[in-house]
Amino acid sequence: MHRADLGFIGLAVMGQNLVLNMERHGYAVAVYNRTTTRTDEFLERNPGLKLIRAATLAELVDRLARPRIVMIMVQAGPAVDAIIADLLHLLEAGDLVIDGGNSHFKDSDRRAAYIQAQGLDFLGVGVSGGEEGALWGPSIMPGGARAAFVRVEGLLTAISAKAPRDQAPCLAYMGPRGAGHYVKMVHNAIEYGDMQLIAEAYDLLHRGLGLTNAELADTFAEWNEGELDSFLIEITAQIFRAMDPLTNQALIDVVLDKAAQKGTGKWASQDALDLGAPIPTINAAVVGRILSSLKSERIQAADRLPGRADGQWTGDREEGKAAIRDALYASKISAYAQGMALLSTASAEYGYELQLGEIAAIWRGGCIIRARFLEDVMCAYQRDRILPNLLLDPAISAAVGARLPSWRRVVSHAVLMGIPVPALGTSLAYYDSYRTARLPANLIQGQRDLFGAHTYERIDRPGNFHADWSR
Ligand code: ATR
Repeated sequence: MHRADLGFIGLAVMGQNLVLNMERHGYAVAVYNRTTTRTDEFLERNPGLKLIRAATLAELVDRLARPRIVMIMVQAGPAVDAIIADLLHLLEAGDLVIDGGNSHFKDSDRRAAYIQAQGLDFLGVGVSGGEEGALWGPSIMPGGARAAFVRVEGLLTAISAKAPRDQAPCLAYMGPRGAGHYVKMVHNAIEYGDMQLIAEAYDLLHRGLGLTNAELADTFAEWNEGELDSFLIEITAQIFRAMDPLTNQALIDVVLDKAAQKGTGKWASQDALDLGAPIPTINAAVVGRILSSLKSERIQAADRLPGRADGQWTGDREEGKAAIRDALYASKISAYAQGMALLSTASAEYGYELQLGEIAAIWRGGCIIRARFLEDVMCAYQRDRILPNLLLDPAISAAVGARLPSWRRVVSHAVLMGIPVPALGTSLAYYDSYRTARLPANLIQGQRDLFGAHTYERIDRPGNFHADWSR
């Protein structure tokens, strides 16, 4: 009997498309899904391919060439543990288990130790690119033992996206244990930041400057030709053009303003707080989604709360648009600086040995945050591998500096108009805090020492001091 190169568990949309991607690159894949009708429908829709049906996990394992490779792509959480527990009864030492779902990095840390202790290999692999990416080439972030990665490097290279400029595969070994899922989590967190920033720019263009949907589509399409060139800006332009077949209005105008979340942004915020790593733009994006979900309260508050705004957008409309574009770009740089700094802190704390330049390189194509800007991020870390903060790179800081007047103008206009810009605002506050040599934290230390004798350090001599503040 012909044996499959790989066994695949979980045939939701991402799983199906990854399987088709592998098959297109010449791999024979045995497929299994808990609900068998899903497997059958998938095979019926895709006849004549090198796909082998498995009705049970035992059948799947039985169909595989040795040493076996099994990839799991199911709902993150207990389902993954349950499948691994079943697989461990069926597999043998030397086999490789890959978790390609959106698992929490701590689960991957735990599973790596547990599976490796049984003599099997484990990889926790972050995959980004949505349905299209899974089919035509995602960005792939594998973590685990390097030797395990080497076993599937050829396969993962084949199915990965290729970066636009140099056609380099959007795949690199990230580091041990949960390193791949950590990087995927931060990828998603940056995606949250990008989306919130773009949404705030939309609000300012629409409510502040009065742009119509057609004008918004043209504006974002134009921005996509310049330094903001990215997947998210491109789809934003597309969204403003879509019409609703039910009402014949612009589709965007009938979409309810409540944003959902699956939790990776929250995970990043939670872990960043644990690590003491500031990622305020991402936090603002997570909170922004939570606030958006309070729709009925917001409707009531809209009637009850005064919001007297002191300003209209003054000045030229084209100038206003350009300023918003600049503020968006500078904020995006600030958000990426926060995300990269989080990666660097986490790498030290968890021993992930992350290479920030390589991470930027493999985000250039395939994934949801793919953007021309990531080429600049990659170059910054090529110039200085241990750059403490992206903002300190000379080219990046010059790019921010050139946009600073617009950035300040846009945030202050927004505040005066009463249009909420939590992400644009806090991105700027992060930048201003980071470049302030003496923050008012001396007062906080004074307060802590006065009420709780927590002591303070001095600027002129070493040691910890406690003062009698009533003197
Ligand atoms: P999506 O939101 O894209 O549908 P998901 O809910 O994250 O994806 O994952 C769905 C996949 O995980 C499906 O393949 C699902 O199997 P079913 O088709 O049988 O529902 C699989 N899955 C979820 N929980 C599972 C479990 N406990 N055991 C096995 N597979 C499970």
